[in-house]
Amino acid sequence: MWFNVSMVQSGKKKVLCFETDEQGISMKIYQGVMLTLEVIVLIVKMYATWFYSIYKFFVPPEPKSVKGEIILITGAGHGMGREMALSFAKLGGTIVCVDINPTGNQETVEMIKDSKGKAHSYLCDVTSRTSINEMADKIRKEVGEVSILINNAGIMPCKPLLQTGEKEIRTAFEVNCLAHLWTLQAFLPGMMERNHGHIVAMSSMAGVIGLRNLVPYCGTKFAVRGMMEAIHEELREDPRDFSGIKLTCICPYIVDTGLCKNPKIKFPSLMKILSPQEAVKHIVDAVRREYQEITIPSSLYYINQMFRVFPRSVPLHIKDFLDSGLEAQ
Ligand SMILES: NC(=O)c1ccc[n+]([C@@H]2O[C@H](COP(=O)([O-])OP(=O)(O)OC[C@H]3O[C@@H](n4cnc5c(N)ncnc54)[C@H](O)[C@@H]3O)[C@@H](O)[C@H]2O)c1
Repeated sequence: MWFNVSMVQSGKKKVLCFETDEQGISMKIYQGVMLTLEVIVLIVKMYATWFYSIYKFFVPPEPKSVKGEIILITGAGHGMGREMALSFAKLGGTIVCVDINPTGNQETVEMIKDSKGKAHSYLCDVTSRTSINEMADKIRKEVGEVSILINNAGIMPCKPLLQTGEKEIRTAFEVNCLAHLWTLQAFLPGMMERNHGHIVAMSSMAGVIGLRNLVPYCGTKFAVRGMMEAIHEELREDPRDFSGIKLTCICPYIVDTGLCKNPKIKFPSLMKILSPQEAVKHIVDAVRREYQEITIPSSLYYINQMFRVFPRSVPLHIKDFLDSGLEAQ
């Protein structure tokens, strides 16, 4: 009879193990069968999820109610932030408007109150982690636990990289990107305690494709998508159940808020500049249906996915043909 000899770690000690040829072969067969079964389960899961996604494409989930939710929106004093505040307030949410601009923020609050909605104003520069934490404590005492967090505040330096100053670059990252981490650290624990919440992040089509004159901005918006994907995994892989916390990342193209000052569009019917109201309709719908990521318009999502399969130069031809983007300002 032949023996296979191997060293096996047992606690802090290494132990010599003897097994007969027959035992070794049965162990290998057992391991092979188990691996095959795991692969079969994986393939079945992948197909089931794929078919379910196709089904969901044609039969979208019902929009959830946001009535009674406490919805914090950064950058609520202007543009899409203001429109989101007005729309969610109409749907019965209590809106916590946050902005660095006191006048714009207060105007949004007054507009909500005029239409019998509930809103609170908090002045905060979202680049300051200390200010965010102080504001979070105040909101908890004065309004309650935030259940929907919308990281919307953003700025956009629009010029060639070599003409963009250090301060502009650092501020873009602080507002568009780091602020998301500070608000997450402040409000996610409350959502985790209750296994209930929704985090919404404003990325951009500039977070999906690289565009000239927007090098730092694209960096911040790609980062937002990366952070959202990573936090999704952190929650999903946690042994505790956080299935009640939803994430939505929004990637609009150009919205007429004044942020994009010099848009250039060759085919306006295909890539229309949307009003903030039109864009926010899509955003509210995506949040209520708990979509993980959308582009506005939605066709850009599929166009991008399709062309990323080709070698890099192929989508570049399409990009050149569409000849759209932002001129330096
Ligand atoms: N407008 C577009 O075409 C477009 C396209 C794609 C993505 N986005 C993104 O959508 C978001 C909203 O864009 P918008 O066009 O409505 O912007 P906007 O300029 O109309 O409003 C931005 C708001 O953020 C506030 N803000 C700026 N810095 C702040 C800070 N440090 N602390 C707190 N508040 C601050 C401003 O005061 C302002 O009220 C941004 O993140 C932007 O990058 C916009």
